[in-house]
Amino acid sequence: MPFADAAAQHAADVRPGTVTRWIARLRQDGLLGLVDRHAGPAVTQRQLSLDFSPARTAPRTTVGRRPRGRPALPLVKWSGSKAPIAAKLAALVPSRFFAYHEPFVGGGSMFFALRPARSFLSDLNAELMNLYAVVKQQLEPLLAALARHQNTREHFLAVRGIHPDTLPPVERAARTLFLNRTCFNGLFRVNRAGLFNVPYGSQQHTTFFQPDSLRRAHLALQNADIACRDFTTCADQARRGDFVYLDPPYVSGLRGDQGFVSYQANGFGEADAERVAELFEQLDRQACRVMLSNPDTAVTRARYRGFRIESLSVRRQVGGHADRRGHAHEIVVRNYQR
Ligand SMILES: C[S@@+](CC[C@H](N)C(=O)[O-])C[C@H]1O[C@@H](n2cnc3c(N)ncnc32)[C@H](O)[C@@H]1O
Repeated sequence: MPFADAAAQHAADVRPGTVTRWIARLRQDGLLGLVDRHAGPAVTQRQLSLDFSPARTAPRTTVGRRPRGRPALPLVKWSGSKAPIAAKLAALVPSRFFAYHEPFVGGGSMFFALRPARSFLSDLNAELMNLYAVVKQQLEPLLAALARHQNTREHFLAVRGIHPDTLPPVERAARTLFLNRTCFNGLFRVNRAGLFNVPYGSQQHTTFFQPDSLRRAHLALQNADIACRDFTTCADQARRGDFVYLDPPYVSGLRGDQGFVSYQANGFGEADAERVAELFEQLDRQACRVMLSNPDTAVTRARYRGFRIESLSVRRQVGGHADRRGHAHEIVVRNYQR
């Protein structure tokens, strides 16, 4: 409602010019500038029917409206990638939200499918987050560094043997992308010393980087805050009305409804899964919209009892072998309807 109409309807003794001055003082001083000395802030707000809550700096994303430009695809092949079901998941995303948060971003299938107006992307994998930061900020030097790589076994083994900590960010990002795109089946796996240990993929005919798709990812990442950190920090950043998508690693040793048989083989254990559930509840209390992917087991269904749970069947590779595919049964948990 225009201010002049609001003033006319709700506070006949207030002139439009006064409201305009109040608004200017709100911008300058905060709410204090608007408080009627006799009536107090609550009455002043009610009389004018204006929303005095602080303005959100994040632009709103409206899902369903196609983001500008050509779609961006995930940059890396990633274990547990949601790329095959990104469209199904995107259909379950809230129709409108402020900032987007993905604290287990991995290959970012959901992020690249949605291309939100403002986002916070994080993961514990330092190589991956360095790659995203470099694609966002130093695209041209990265393209130049990638052009110096060659898709041969000899070169692959030489690059694989370099410890990433010894490289500057751009070279480090080029190494990550090169190894990811030329290794066996696009896995990302490191040994205890932090060295990449996946064999060469022997696909010399494949081009391991496409400047065009890197440019699209560069554009998609422009409004993203990128950080390497534990997922729990997400609760500090997320605000009311934001949307958080949680896609944690699945606890190893899952055996369907039998529950968990081993806890720490892939580094993400039962205690971590409990921390994820606590984060989900914390974000729910913060009035964020939260969506989580998890395996469909009695344990996970019990953990998220009380929230909306839907099943999804996902065709995926087993043990990193392209020729061994199966259907994984997953659930999507949400704390909202639309
Ligand atoms: C299932 S993958 C996410 C896949 C992603 N949704 C995609 O489509 O590519 C889980 C991610 O969680 C990350 N991760 C593992 N432990 C973490 C932790 N404690 N905090 C943040 N990220 C973690 C892994 O590095 C991995 O990238």
